[in-house]
Amino acid sequence: RDGDLVPALVIGSGYGGAVTALRLTQAGVPTAVVEMGRNWTTPGPDGDVFCDMHNPDGRSFWFRTETDQPLGYFSGGSTNKEIPSAAGVLDSERFAATRVYQGRGVGGGSLVNGGMAVTPKRDYFEEILPSVDADQMYRTFFPRANAALGVNRIDRVWFESADCYRYTRVSRRTAHDAGFDTVFVPNVYDFDYMKREAANQVPRSALATEVIYGNNHGKRTLDKTYLAAAAATGKLSISPLHTVTDVAPTRGGRYAVTMVRIDVDGTTLATKTVTADRVFFAAGSVGTSKLLVAMKAKGRLSDLPDDVGAGWGNNGNVMVGRAGWDLTGALQSCMPSMGIDNWSDSNGPVFAEIAPFPAGTETWINLYLAITKNPHRGTFRFNTTTGQVDLDWQASWTQPSIDAAKRVFDAINAKAGTIYRSDLFGVYKIWGDDFTYHPLGGCVLNEATDNYGRLPGYPGLYVVDGSLVPGSTGVNPFVTITALAERNVEHVIATDIGG
Ligand code: FDA
Repeated sequence: RDGDLVPALVIGSGYGGAVTALRLTQAGVPTAVVEMGRNWTTPGPDGDVFCDMHNPDGRSFWFRTETDQPLGYFSGGSTNKEIPSAAGVLDSERFAATRVYQGRGVGGGSLVNGGMAVTPKRDYFEEILPSVDADQMYRTFFPRANAALGVNRIDRVWFESADCYRYTRVSRRTAHDAGFDTVFVPNVYDFDYMKREAANQVPRSALATEVIYGNNHGKRTLDKTYLAAAAATGKLSISPLHTVTDVAPTRGGRYAVTMVRIDVDGTTLATKTVTADRVFFAAGSVGTSKLLVAMKAKGRLSDLPDDVGAGWGNNGNVMVGRAGWDLTGALQSCMPSMGIDNWSDSNGPVFAEIAPFPAGTETWINLYLAITKNPHRGTFRFNTTTGQVDLDWQASWTQPSIDAAKRVFDAINAKAGTIYRSDLFGVYKIWGDDFTYHPLGGCVLNEATDNYGRLPGYPGLYVVDGSLVPGSTGVNPFVTITALAERNVEHVIATDIGG
């Protein structure tokens, strides 16, 4: 409530925020989480909390009148549909030369993502975050994160015959034929539940085109794992549909946090200011970077280091589809289970997730989300004319990612006698290179913050989310973000809070 005093305030309820909320509440610290999106617990008129990909409505996108699907085209036309503008679960935030997809709601990105839970390769982790003790990460914090997230592995015997993974088996065979390795990838989707979906024993979710607009069943999202455990301590409060707009120090050494409360239609209901002893920025790479850059420019937190806003990357994301010869299946699980691992290629490392194309009909399409090692980094800057924060990422900067992915998929196409689809990301456009699912950086660990996420000059301000990771982690990022938050928050509780 307006005027409240709280010991700890967490901005955002994704991976960084959920870890922070659990560990603080377990240490006995009453914690208030402020989340701009909805608390996704109330069913809509159709009885479901979330809509599926084929029938998007106001629950799908964050305040858009038309969907903005990552694969927005098919056979020469747009596949986007008109929708009522509302506080939907998926945001496609537009900057000059890229769109950034993010989850909106209690649970952040966990509500909309593919659930792929990948621990990064150790030598690459050591390369990107040299100030972090890798022994400790791989011994303690990665296992802790995987356990708390509820990561599980697919039954490989079932996988080999499941209709819903035919698309993955086809892509595996063409990759192997061209000399590439593949690896199974763990997931937070409950694979036992999926088996029962396939056997028609339970309501379908991953097998019913549910993923980017949320899953009604089967997925261990953060509201069911970390945040549920935090709530069980009795020390957690969550304020959904509250957007933090301002953070500034008070005379008493605390922080005044201003937020706007909206309803689902976007009408402003109230503006409140709360005072907090400590504030944890967990608004995601884009949200945290934008907020901190704006606060520095507006003089609220003017002593923040110049590195705040720098070092943003898209995890080398680029998507591509191939037109194959093999049936990939009308029924496809929306949870990926395998990747093509060509990371050891020194000419251009690639880890390519074998992605579903759940059209509900046979398409012969093989789809991939390639994660590459892209050297370019963007910077967030405050625009005094518009009062907004811009990101200077350039369209041409995705070229190294395309080049690396092309080496893999050209070889696969050559061996299989297949071609690229050029109708999925535009008209005659092969590469899905103008968006990312994996924003990282903007407030990099040990550069913009100290080695544990503390913001220099402002005791009690911390960064705990994906903005700490310097633009790339070589695999799908949420396990990295979760484990790093576990490490940093444990240290902060022990040294700053005395827990
Ligand atoms: P995250 O974005 O999770 O949370 C930030 C939260 O803060 C959000 O809930 C947001 O609404 C809130 N917020 C922002 N600004 C705010 C403000 N001013 N006030 C209040 N609240 C605010 N990763 C992976 O490892 N495996 C996968 O399979 C996938 N797949 C995937 C698919 C799709 C479609 C997307 C969009 C993303 C993925 N990802 C993924 C990426 C993964 O979801 C992402 O890396 C993490 O969610 C990032 O975690 P953070 O804690 O950094 O922020």
